[in-house]
Amino acid sequence: MKFHIITFGCQMNVCDSDWLSYALQSLGWEPDTEDQAQCFIVNTCSVRDKPEQKVYSLLGRLKAYWEANPHCFAAVGGCVAQQVGTAFWKRFPFVRLVFGTDGVPYVPAALQQIARHPKQRIRLLDFLDHYPERERHFPATLPAQGFVNIMQGCDNFCAYCIVPYTRGRQKSRKAHHIMDECRALVQRGVREITLLGQNVNSYGLDGHGDGVGFAELLHRVAALPGLDRLRFTTSHPKDIAPEVIEAFGSLPNLCPQLHLPVQSGSDRLLQSMGRMYTRKQYERIVQELRLACPEIVLTTDLIVGFPGETDQDFEDTLELMRLVRYASSFSFKYSDRPGVRAQTMQGKVSESVKQERLQRLQDLQAEHTVQTLEAQVGQTGQVLVEGLSRKSGRAIPCWRGRDGGGRIVHFDLDTTGLVGKIIPVTITQAKKHSLRGEVSGSPW
Ligand code: 5AD
Ligand code: SF4
Repeated sequence: MKFHIITFGCQMNVCDSDWLSYALQSLGWEPDTEDQAQCFIVNTCSVRDKPEQKVYSLLGRLKAYWEANPHCFAAVGGCVAQQVGTAFWKRFPFVRLVFGTDGVPYVPAALQQIARHPKQRIRLLDFLDHYPERERHFPATLPAQGFVNIMQGCDNFCAYCIVPYTRGRQKSRKAHHIMDECRALVQRGVREITLLGQNVNSYGLDGHGDGVGFAELLHRVAALPGLDRLRFTTSHPKDIAPEVIEAFGSLPNLCPQLHLPVQSGSDRLLQSMGRMYTRKQYERIVQELRLACPEIVLTTDLIVGFPGETDQDFEDTLELMRLVRYASSFSFKYSDRPGVRAQTMQGKVSESVKQERLQRLQDLQAEHTVQTLEAQVGQTGQVLVEGLSRKSGRAIPCWRGRDGGGRIVHFDLDTTGLVGKIIPVTITQAKKHSLRGEVSGSPW
């Protein structure tokens, strides 16, 4: 059976899709291109309106494909599947499996069953009260970067966010299972691990994590012999423990990089969003992080046009950005999501105001991004090579990788087989979103 996986949304979806791909291959199924596949797996995201619309336009395209190739079928998973459920079956008759995030471990068996019984449809939408462990499958060769889920779901119920409804309550994965997976990855040559969760700082607070908290987990993973780099995402500012902040100063392989979504710089809005921290508290966390690790690279998520956002609230957000000077940020226009608290809030902001604010915010971010990149010129960083640069068609290969801060670095080197190696590179030039440099010293 030939399958093709299409993934929307966050790194957790990418991680789920990778696991599905490895699991199906272990059953003898083969990954293939979209025009050769018999089984399509669409892993969806509904965090904002835009990604959800993309899912529907893809399913429309697949419907046309199925009408010409009626032996094909699809499975739809992730957040949109959790929301829409079996209603998909009516609108898209070729969809024969719907699964939520807790259903992922059971998808390979369900797909096998569907493939054997052409009339069968299966739903895997129930939430579980624990983190469902998956059988571990690894391909023969792994990339140098590994991603490890440490929890599922979220308990925060921020007023705009659909995640607690589509991914369910927070459930931490048992620490010993996380350690086993990290150890297995490092043994297979993985050099960098990113621990993933909707809100990793509250790892273990749900009572499911073997009594281990996030700071302790970080220390345990960082101590694995052979692990060069450790990262984690995403963090909620309200839960970041002093021990986690200190870890940036004390763990040599914890990368100096943190994605710390702030959403707004206005206390009034932070409160109506239900974020449970004030602007001052957030600023203090930033100060402490920079004290523990002066070179830390901070990035964030920002929402413009949340219901009730005034010009002054928006100015407060810009002011916070000027203070923190994020290296980069993801910024979004608020969009109504079904069933969330903000959906029924007064003071909806018009599309044109949202657009104008987004533009101003992104212009300011672009300035900060360039300035933070320019500050790197002359510095030498360790770059984990991910591949050849896309523009590389030149005589000397141009390589692309990331430094410890997560910045993209390009450099020329006339050699092969650099992927997965860590190379010292001295930065010579800042581009709009990336850096260029030269390999410093040899041999490395
Ligand atoms: N509208 C706009 N942005 C949203 N996000 C989450 N829900 C919404 C929404 N309804 C953004 C937040 C979050 C990121 C993953 O998506 O900034 O951190
Ligand atoms: Fe959504 Fe808030 Fe949970 Fe993040 S912390 S997933 S924004 S509810």
